[in-house]
Amino acid sequence: MTTTKRFKGLANQNPAPQSFNIIRVNSQRLLTGQWSPTLGQIFTDPQDLETNEQLIERQRDGEDFFLLWDVAKRKAAGIELTQILPQSGAMYIPWTGVLPEYRNLGIGAAMTHEIAGHMRQRYGASHTIIEAEDPVRLRTSGAYAPDEIEDAIAVAARRINFWRRQNFVVVDDNTKPVGEKLSYVRPGSADDQQIQAYDHMAVRFHDPALRDRVMTADGQISKAFVRACYFDMNRIQFGKDLTDTQLRDNYPAIDQYARAIDAIASDTLATRNEAIIEKTSPTAATTLNVVQEQSIAMMTAANSKRRAAYN
Ligand SMILES: CC(C)(COP(=O)(O)OP(=O)(O)OC[C@H]1O[C@@H](n2cnc3c(N)ncnc32)[C@H](O)[C@@H]1OP(=O)(O)O)[C@@H](O)C(=O)NCCC(=O)NCCS
Repeated sequence: MTTTKRFKGLANQNPAPQSFNIIRVNSQRLLTGQWSPTLGQIFTDPQDLETNEQLIERQRDGEDFFLLWDVAKRKAAGIELTQILPQSGAMYIPWTGVLPEYRNLGIGAAMTHEIAGHMRQRYGASHTIIEAEDPVRLRTSGAYAPDEIEDAIAVAARRINFWRRQNFVVVDDNTKPVGEKLSYVRPGSADDQQIQAYDHMAVRFHDPALRDRVMTADGQISKAFVRACYFDMNRIQFGKDLTDTQLRDNYPAIDQYARAIDAIASDTLATRNEAIIEKTSPTAATTLNVVQEQSIAMMTAANSKRRAAYN
């Protein structure tokens, strides 16, 4: 029989769970007043940011903005933007993150997981696609200044490990050197007519049946599925109605990747399989609930003194 013992001196080792709401951001007020400034505190490189006008345009287009709200402190703790292609179930995350004081506690990881579940329920999202910098090709990419490159490579390696810990499958054969394997390329983030060659694509399955269909027992992934994910992700970014041919005609990088993947004889591709480094920092006890901004506004309207609270 298991019994739970309580030791006074250890009380702080089991603090009450920190409570967060993951608010679906529906209004411009919350988008520009909370979401956008929080994004700017997490991603400090101006090149990674967009203007409020661009964000409002995305909101009008139906993209799903989420704000992580610390209920006790009554302040924003993180953000995520998700974009979905309902016809295929593919979901893409351009930004996700938590403020520095909330990092390394498992909170960001739990947030992405919770949002994916919500997106599956709401739109039938079956898998999430992300891109993550390739630490190897980053070195010669010119993407970082010489005094930043070593840090950037270290963070990129940790991030790949972090995403794999979150069950993302990274499409890359880590047993082969660059030049002897499929090389992921995408339209440049600054100039989409350029070819950006320092990322990998990764996929997480929300639908286990889909995973079973496209993954082999030894961790290979269907080439046709990777190809479809690549086009879906680019459709999400460049125009949901664009055909594969239009994407290839409009963006040299997309054509290059399509040629490279089509040149592979095998039906499956290798995925990263080196041992995952376990998390060493402790995971905080948290409760996270996805809530609608509207329902929060109604709750707070009932209490006029607390109108601005998102608890
Ligand atoms: C990446 C991030 C969302 C992880 O959330 P988290 O809840 O802190 O994650 P966990 O506690 O489960 O794991 C901690 C991992 O976060 C990553 N991390 C921690 N601090 C980080 C930082 N300043 N920058 C980037 N990644 C960081 C590390 O991979 C770390 O794992 P490791 O120490 O084993 O390498 C969070 O660190 C963050 O918001 N970083 C800045 C924004 C970002 O890089 N977003 C992802 C790309 S869009």
